[in-house]
Amino acid sequence: MYAPENTFRVPRWRVDETHSALREELHAALDRVLFGTMKTGYQVREEFEVAFAEAVQQPYCVAVHSGTLGLFIALRACGISGGDEVITVANSDISTTAAIRHCGAIPVLCDVQASDYTLNPDLIEPLVTPRTRAILPVDLHGHPANVARIRSIAKHYGLRIIEDAALATGSCDFGKPLGAFADVTVYSFAPLKPLGSLGNGAALVTQDSAINARLRLLTHYGHASMVSETGHQNYVIEGYNAPLDTFQAALLSVKLPFLQEWTHKRRAIARQYERGLSHTSAILPSFRADSEPIFRSYAIRVPHRQMIYQGLRDAGIEAVLHYVPPVHHYTVYRDGLPGSQSLPITDKLADEIICLPVSPENTDEETKYVINVLCRLLEETS
Ligand SMILES: Cc1ncc(COP(=O)(O)O)c(C=O)c1O
Repeated sequence: MYAPENTFRVPRWRVDETHSALREELHAALDRVLFGTMKTGYQVREEFEVAFAEAVQQPYCVAVHSGTLGLFIALRACGISGGDEVITVANSDISTTAAIRHCGAIPVLCDVQASDYTLNPDLIEPLVTPRTRAILPVDLHGHPANVARIRSIAKHYGLRIIEDAALATGSCDFGKPLGAFADVTVYSFAPLKPLGSLGNGAALVTQDSAINARLRLLTHYGHASMVSETGHQNYVIEGYNAPLDTFQAALLSVKLPFLQEWTHKRRAIARQYERGLSHTSAILPSFRADSEPIFRSYAIRVPHRQMIYQGLRDAGIEAVLHYVPPVHHYTVYRDGLPGSQSLPITDKLADEIICLPVSPENTDEETKYVINVLCRLLEETS
């Protein structure tokens, strides 16, 4: 199922190099869990929750098993249930729409902006019905959706916002890490994410203490954390068993302090791409002045996409087609999702998008190589 070891000249993932550089710190952190008591592991996870909350400037954080489960738990904690409608996008991972459907709710698809590929706030209001309960924007490729504007629409209609920031750990908007405008923000720590574990992981952050309490209950079996005087257990709701694994928490705790440094490197690579490709036929993403993306990859639009994609891969560059096709083209949704008939920008982007490697370990020379190969391919195919 998995591809053989990476043989690309410019790969999109080389975290093994970063881990090697952190070898001693990682060994110490993993040792603490491996040779500690069961409680030590829980403590490591709790310490990570505190550190992550601080890093994204939020009061509450619940560390969970994965972004997929995290989205589901976040929706449930916000009271989303059978028959409710949730407005979201089609250019995302299956996890986004699947989480909505696992709640028994209905994803209503809204088109995106051609500039940064995120939910278009101007198109939300016509999709609101008496059954709409929430909006679920996605920070695709690490580009912050305009959640500040979405917040004013949500406020007007009494809707919740669950922000899918799975790809956006390190992004900021209006000068703050993502999460300032949503009810719950979901960050993923899957291996290919900007802050990656070596398995699964995610964090749910919120400013609302009542939502935080529900997130925690749902994540930990629905168990009331106190055992009674008689020694009896008590479960307040039927929850799940979905906390972040303690070894992943230990790994992530070592890496978190480097997030800012890696974010700067990713942005520098994106700037290099921007300078090198601005005079070509490629259409580059553009952003609001307040938006500071992390650039999980550098996603651009090109003519003759399949030829360019193949040409890059043949030259040893690990270009990828992330979120192609959009979810409404998957077999699982063959019966249609509301809104799927009117997604012209989403469909157009899916025909043109190609994601270039952005990894903090990539050198200037490697990025220059990608730019040179791409310029040549764009000329050859024009
Ligand atoms: C946009 C988006 N949302 C949610 C997820 C799910 O995250 P996880 O892999 O941690 O379950 C992903 C995973 O790739 C994603 O890309």
